[in-house]
Amino acid sequence: MQSSSHAVVRPARNVRGSVSLPGDKSISHRYAMLAALADGPSRLENYSTGADCASTLGCLRSLGVNWGRGAGAGNVIAVQGTGLTFSTPSEPLDCGNSGSTIRMLSGILAGQEFSSEMVGDESLSRRPMERVIAPLTAMGAHIESHRGRPPLRIAGAELKAIQYKMPVASAQVKTSLLFAGLLAEGETIIHEPLRARDHGEVALRAFGAHVEQNGNEVRIRGGQRLKGIEAVVPGDISSAAFFLCAAALFPGSQLTVTNLLMNPTRARLLDILIQIGLRVSVTQLEELHGELVGTVQVEGGRLKGATIAGSDTAAVIDEIPVLAAIAPYTEQGIEVRDAKELRVKESNRITALATNLRRMGAQLEETEDGLKIPGGQSLHGAEIESFGDHRIAMAFSIAALRAKGETLIQGSECAAISYPAFFSTLEGLVER
Ligand code: S3P
Repeated sequence: MQSSSHAVVRPARNVRGSVSLPGDKSISHRYAMLAALADGPSRLENYSTGADCASTLGCLRSLGVNWGRGAGAGNVIAVQGTGLTFSTPSEPLDCGNSGSTIRMLSGILAGQEFSSEMVGDESLSRRPMERVIAPLTAMGAHIESHRGRPPLRIAGAELKAIQYKMPVASAQVKTSLLFAGLLAEGETIIHEPLRARDHGEVALRAFGAHVEQNGNEVRIRGGQRLKGIEAVVPGDISSAAFFLCAAALFPGSQLTVTNLLMNPTRARLLDILIQIGLRVSVTQLEELHGELVGTVQVEGGRLKGATIAGSDTAAVIDEIPVLAAIAPYTEQGIEVRDAKELRVKESNRITALATNLRRMGAQLEETEDGLKIPGGQSLHGAEIESFGDHRIAMAFSIAALRAKGETLIQGSECAAISYPAFFSTLEGLVER
């Protein structure tokens, strides 16, 4: 995304209020793809408002899938399933900025009868795709790339199941292989180094497929049919993370987030926030199509500090930008380790975080796979570069709330990749 607009964020006194968030990005992508593959219609309420999930819908339309937006509030998407077969697209599929779209859709396109091409924006065109190319090729697809990066040209084939040990923990890759496994002959067995988010497995079951889970191993049999569903997508916990961290910055803050995704593979964020010093309570837990949803109430207290490493790092990989952005305000600081994957996200997030924290006056150490950010620091407003990365733009809008003076977020429009209403919702929650 081009850095064309900017946002100015002024310091705040407190955070107070109640909010319900647009649907989770990870789940929205998966529901849209599975609804497109299913037999019959699906209705997806509270579908993500982010541009990434719109990229998925755009690709599906180019693949002959009929879908439309429902009338009224709630961002409803109605999808007419195709019964596992898409039609040949007449032009390259535009995945925009979305790694989830290109990687997960690859698994489906690998098992179709036609050839297709997927392209992305400048950021996506730099991201590694070998992680899906290698296993999908082993299943029988032919995939050409630009030295392991997009564009991807996929010649679909009759896929054969494989047993695959994933070298990198990645839910996008796991889901891509589960989708390919659904279209393959035989039983696909995927072994992940640690349990990444499991929305692919949960969503497949919601659409009627049988998926087995045993420790870090997931199995799916090819040839299963899917049935359409009516579902409400739970609020996006990675978007909520920005407001939860904003609340953490102010002792006595009070924030309620309703209808929030509480899937255990995503909710580790709450454990880390509790460790840092936020008081958290969860009520009204319920299960919707296999996904846990609840109301989260938080209250700011003393901000201690934390070390985020190992499986915790993988569990909060999308929330590390905002956790790092508030780290200088904690008493003991925050150290992030084992986060090399952050260097190949929408931007090199380790460098983006270090650069912008320094611009705000913070001392820190950038390591190969993380950051050591001492606590007890005060920051000043500065000109922040979003690097076209939505989570960097939003993370520094939160750091700005306790800085001295105004902060200018360059390229702030990229927040729309996951959360178009971010800035207006934030303004509604802060007190000045
Ligand atoms: C996602 C998985 C994560 C995450 C991304 C969304 C998903 O990426 O960073 O924002 O929906 O499966 P990896 O699969 O690369 O770990």
